Amino acid sequence: MRKILIVGALLICGLSETAVADEASAEAGAREYANSCAACHGPDGKGGGQPPAARVVDLSQLSGKNGGVFPTARVYATIDGRLAVAAHGPRDMPVWGRIYTVLAGAGQQDPYLTEAAVRARIQALIDHIYLLQEPPAGKRRPAATRPASGR
Ligand code: HEC
Repeated sequence: MRKILIVGALLICGLSETAVADEASAEAGAREYANSCAACHGPDGKGGGQPPAARVVDLSQLSGKNGGVFPTARVYATIDGRLAVAAHGPRDMPVWGRIYTVLAGAGQQDPYLTEAAVRARIQALIDHIYLLQEPPAGKRRPAATRPASGR
């Protein structure tokens, strides 16, 4: 019984820590979004920024257009862009994986640290974009599934 209580307490601590980490990440993501993304995608992700993003993308409908499930892996790959551009050539959106590599690499010699910084930045953006999700017109809010961390 005691063991169960201890395991339970550890689980609860673990869960609340995760929630706090997500909030901090989402806040960092919100700042980065305002600096780097809102110009094209609008402050709420619905467009209204400069073309062509304003025309083609509504970042508040990523879950809505995917059966209510936030497409974490696809969003990650799209923001990063390094693999997509290697496979399909240039695109209209900046390749953030390259930009963040340059920014992170400036003071670091260790490629693992550089890559970790790039991934943390992209994950923070994903946490923020997840919070921008809205139900499709006339539908209820999609089930609150947290984005998986990492890919
Ligand atoms: C120069 C304008 C521009 C900026 C700045 C920009 N984007 Fe984009 N984004 C686009 C365009 C255009 C597309 C449509 C795909 C394409 O042609 O590249 C797109 C597509 C996307 C998608 C895919 C949406 C879908 O339907 O799957 C995501 C996610 C996204 N952008 C996130 C971001 C984030 C996060 C940032 C900031 C780090 C950002 N964008 C900054 C122009 C931009």
